[in-house]
Order: sequence, then C-alpha cells, then structure tokens
Amino acid sequence: MPALGLAPGARIFLPLCGKTGDIPWLLSQGHAVAGAELSEIAVKALFDDLGITPIVQKTGDLNRYSADGIDIFAGDMFAMTPAMLGSVGAVYDRASLVALPADVRARYAPFLVRLTGGAPHLLIAFDYDASTVSGPPFPVPEAEIRGIYPPGTGITQLADTPATGGIKGVQPAREQVWLLAPQANGSAG
Ligand SMILES: C[S@@+](CC[C@H](N)C(=O)[O-])C[C@H]1O[C@@H](n2cnc3c(N)ncnc32)[C@H](O)[C@@H]1O
Repeated sequence: MPALGLAPGARIFLPLCGKTGDIPWLLSQGHAVAGAELSEIAVKALFDDLGITPIVQKTGDLNRYSADGIDIFAGDMFAMTPAMLGSVGAVYDRASLVALPADVRARYAPFLVRLTGGAPHLLIAFDYDASTVSGPPFPVPEAEIRGIYPPGTGITQLADTPATGGIKGVQPAREQVWLLAPQANGSAG
C-alpha cells in the first residue's frame, strides 16, 4: 500500500475484518495487523487458516485473539477504545464501510477515526444506482464520504474502475479507492 507511505512493518487495522485473506497477505508483507470482527466463529477460522494458535484474553466486552504480529478483537467494534487497540499506522477498509447501512456508516466513520488516532485510511467503496438492487454492499458515493468523515479529513481518489461482476452480478458499479487523511489527533467529529 505505497499510497499510505507506511514504514516497513507498520501495524495496520482492518475494521470488520471477517476472515479476510488480506490478513495473511499483509502478514506475509511483514506488517503487523489488528482487526475487529463481531463473529467469533470467523475469528477462529482466520487463525485456523493461518495455522496459528492465538492467546485469548478478555478485554472490556471483547475477546482479544493475539499471536506474534496479530491482534484480532472479537466482538462489537463500537465497544473498542484507542487504549485497547494500541497504536496503528493505517486503516485498511475493504468491504467494511460498504457493508453497513447508512445510519451505522455515519457513526462508524468518526468512531474509526477516533479509535485509530487519525491514522490514514485506504478505503475501497462502491458507487452504483441502488434503485434496482439493494446492498450490502451499499453504494457510498463521494458526497457521502465527504459528509461522514470528520471535517478537515483529506480525501483523495486513487482509483475509479468498473467493479468486476458488478453488484450481485446484475448491477454495474464503480469500485473506488480513496486515501483518507484525517487530522492528526483524530479528535474531530
Ligand atoms: C462484508 S464482511 C467484510 C469482511 C472483510 N472486511 C473482508 O474484506 O472480507 C463484514 C463483516 O463485518 C462484521 N461486523 C458487522 N458489524 C460489526 C461490528 N459492529 N463490529 C465488528 N464486526 C462487525 C460482520 O460480522 C462481517 O464479518
């Protein structure tokens, strides 16, 4: 993720991570990773896929599954605190913001900025006409992105390409990659 200008080995947070294959890939690139996922089944499957036996510790209302270079918080991400998460160099948001309905997206964006201390985000979103097909993934156009992240967030589009297969195989869509640079302390919003 060169657009983020990360230091080698930087710790990357994946909100609503599921058991994404992005985590083994980031680990293979030498990054440390942290994630949050509601489904404990998915978290266990992720570690099974990695062939790693984690240490599991209760932290607040969540369970933290940890091993060398990886911490996954099983539970509601909205119950996490910056102290619980620790420092991260970047947020990688794929299939996460777009998985949420509009009212939750409006809460998620400023929460995520505060949780990660204003770390830069690489966000992958979709834009499409939702009149014929309903999400998730939901369309999150530029105007909404500009509206839900805290004032002062730098918002740069890095790519805008046709989404392979469209939405649910029927609705053409644009896949858009955004670099979000919140203000340093992440306190806005
Ligand atoms: C579409 S999946 C995306 C998974 C992953 N980002 C990927 O690229 O495959 C959305 C995930 O968000 C999780 N989720 C939804 N609400 C959540 C919450 N409040 N806290 C943590 N995880 C949540 C769901 O359990 C689901 O696994």
